[in-house]
Amino acid sequence: MQIRKIYAVYFSPVGSTGKVTEAVAGVIAGKLGIPAETIDFTLPENRGGGWTFDRDELVVFGTPTYAGRVPNKALPFVQDLFHGDQTPAIPVVTFGNRNFDSSLTELKDELEKNRFCPFAAGAFAARHVFSQTIAAGRPDAKDMEILHAFAEKAAAKLLAAQDADALTRPVIRGGEPVAPYYVPKGLDGQPAKFLKAKPKTDPDLCDGCGTCAEACPMGSISRENTAEVTGICIKCQACVRLCPKGAKYFDDPAFLSHVAMLEKNFQRRAEPETFL
Ligand SMILES: Cc1cc2nc3c(=O)[nH]c(=O)nc-3n(C[C@H](O)[C@H](O)[C@H](O)COP(=O)(O)O)c2cc1C
Ligand code: SF4
Ligand code: SF4
Repeated sequence: MQIRKIYAVYFSPVGSTGKVTEAVAGVIAGKLGIPAETIDFTLPENRGGGWTFDRDELVVFGTPTYAGRVPNKALPFVQDLFHGDQTPAIPVVTFGNRNFDSSLTELKDELEKNRFCPFAAGAFAARHVFSQTIAAGRPDAKDMEILHAFAEKAAAKLLAAQDADALTRPVIRGGEPVAPYYVPKGLDGQPAKFLKAKPKTDPDLCDGCGTCAEACPMGSISRENTAEVTGICIKCQACVRLCPKGAKYFDDPAFLSHVAMLEKNFQRRAEPETFL
């Protein structure tokens, strides 16, 4: 089938998901010789409108994995803002080297409900935003090789199909249904409860530049007083990772215990998984 344009659409607080989604879209755009455009709906100001895609467009759609699923606070944006019209789609997730569990299946299912036709899907390990050591440097060259091969196969599948109805759905992990959210554990193996944790600010390091407030996908950091978290915190770490002064941090004991548990148990290399 003929595709006229490709969109890389994503929610990506710290950037790995954006990088992976754009890379998949870029390879396919190059292969098909058509333009690619990015729709980044991470920030509140980019979620003002909605988008409907045509059947001769392709959407590569990316979210990170949070607690084994599509981030629950980003799910309504996926459901409400993006609609297809028998539009071919490639759901893509990143995960921080523990496991993507059900996030890819959930994303595929949600896209299908909104009249997209998912025909390929991929889960890519990326730096865990909670840690300096887990999956540091990923996606790396080996991951990008797998990503390229996957995107090329997806392009070939698209070209070979008569129309979107002829595109077969990817079977993710044998067609397992979406499982409940993963319960984070602490070092003691017990559930680590840090739902209410919020970042703190070191006043000696912070110069009030406002980068953290601009980067918060929930719009929860006050622009007038950047030490103040006024709304919901999804623990995405954008403020911590993007602060140029290293002034933002989490000191919630349950959160730190979960990070220590991950650093102890999930240093082995998780490979990307692709489904066509
Ligand atoms: C709240 C939260 C929960 C997460 N849960 C998981 C998880 O269940 N499994 C996993 O492997 N990684 C998990 N991660 C790691 C992210 O999926 C990973 O770092 C992702 O690449 C971040 O994407 P971004 O750079 O686009 O923000 C979690 C991260 C956050 C912030
Ligand atoms: S990004 Fe860092 S230095 Fe800038 S206002 Fe936020 S905490 Fe302060
Ligand atoms: S305050 Fe919470 S939601 Fe906002 S950027 Fe920081 S970690 Fe993410």
